[in-house]
Amino acid sequence: MSTVKLAEGVYSIGVKDPDLRIFDIIMTTQYGTTYNAYLIQGASATAVIDTVKKPFTEEFLANIEEMTSPDRIDYLIVNHNEPDHSGAITALLERNPALKIYCSSAAVPYLKNIINREADITGVKDKHTLELGCKTLTFRLMPYMHWPDTTMEFLEEDNILFSNDGFAAHVASESVFADEVTEDLQFEYRHYFDAIMRPFTGYMRRNLPKLDEHDIRMIAPSHGPVFRRDAAAYISRYKEWSADKSDSRNLITIFYATAYGNTKLIAERLADNLKKAGYEVDLTDVATAEVADLKDLIESSKAVLIGTPTFNGDAVRPVWDFVNLFSTVYSIGKKAAVFGSYGWGGEACKLVADRLSGLKLKVFEEHFRARLIPSEDEIRAIDEYSRKLVDFVGK
Ligand code: FEO
Repeated sequence: MSTVKLAEGVYSIGVKDPDLRIFDIIMTTQYGTTYNAYLIQGASATAVIDTVKKPFTEEFLANIEEMTSPDRIDYLIVNHNEPDHSGAITALLERNPALKIYCSSAAVPYLKNIINREADITGVKDKHTLELGCKTLTFRLMPYMHWPDTTMEFLEEDNILFSNDGFAAHVASESVFADEVTEDLQFEYRHYFDAIMRPFTGYMRRNLPKLDEHDIRMIAPSHGPVFRRDAAAYISRYKEWSADKSDSRNLITIFYATAYGNTKLIAERLADNLKKAGYEVDLTDVATAEVADLKDLIESSKAVLIGTPTFNGDAVRPVWDFVNLFSTVYSIGKKAAVFGSYGWGGEACKLVADRLSGLKLKVFEEHFRARLIPSEDEIRAIDEYSRKLVDFVGK
């Protein structure tokens, strides 16, 4: 991918990786990807925004050479240190040791651990501006979108947002511009959001309103095509996708797995009690539910209850597979409680509760356990436990 002009003095200088089929271990990329970088030539200084994945370093440097010599670049802006964007920083520094690097304050320690050499690094705060001469970049810090170090820049004179991983897609299309891509690849934007951004929606709800302060007419992300039309629509879509789905509901979801129906019996008694207490309650068997539905239910729930039998001193695999989904959505601070039947030691409840605490959920300290088939005393204890859950979850 050679250089493409986005506006006067603004160029795309990234590279394509069309054969990539798995990104970051975690997501499929059937259309490959691009590692986008940008060069801005102001009247008094030249800046490069981001670099590329290391194996593409020579192609990246050749793209810069189309515009200027790498040793004539004044500033490198590092929007985010993940190696798909920071892989060529060291090579650029070797060509230009005087390069001034700008990044968020949070990015500085990561950057030092990547380049492992002395460099002129400035960590900026939100709304810092960098003057290039008739080209003004305003930094907008976007922590956890999707790393703590993430920042975006708004180019004031040309109304371009350099959005790093935000609004991106893993697509190596023929054209740099989204409006020239003929195939309908909208699902790839949602796929990207689900894999990369969805665990951070709580942070996005705080960050995205910052963009309303700018008249954004073009979005230049770090993967996939550049949007030069309908920029506002893409920002609105991210706001919609990252909205708090539990806000408008009073939903408690009871997720459970059951072998002989005993954990299910506890789940159903809890559900009846919580419905009587005024909650909307959903009962879901994690062994048979679809992953996408489980993720939606976690996000939509005010609180989650998880029922697991104990097998061989552990929770059962469908429960662990389910618990692993919490790190794929934003679940920090969500209220949770754990229950289940057991025959011997009943270790599963504590193991699951500890894992949920490790994932930063707010876990009710008391677990409810019943040995084998719940007795009448144990059923009365479920009712008492339900009352405690109501106090814990709140209305
Ligand atoms: Fe495209 Fe988070 O790196």
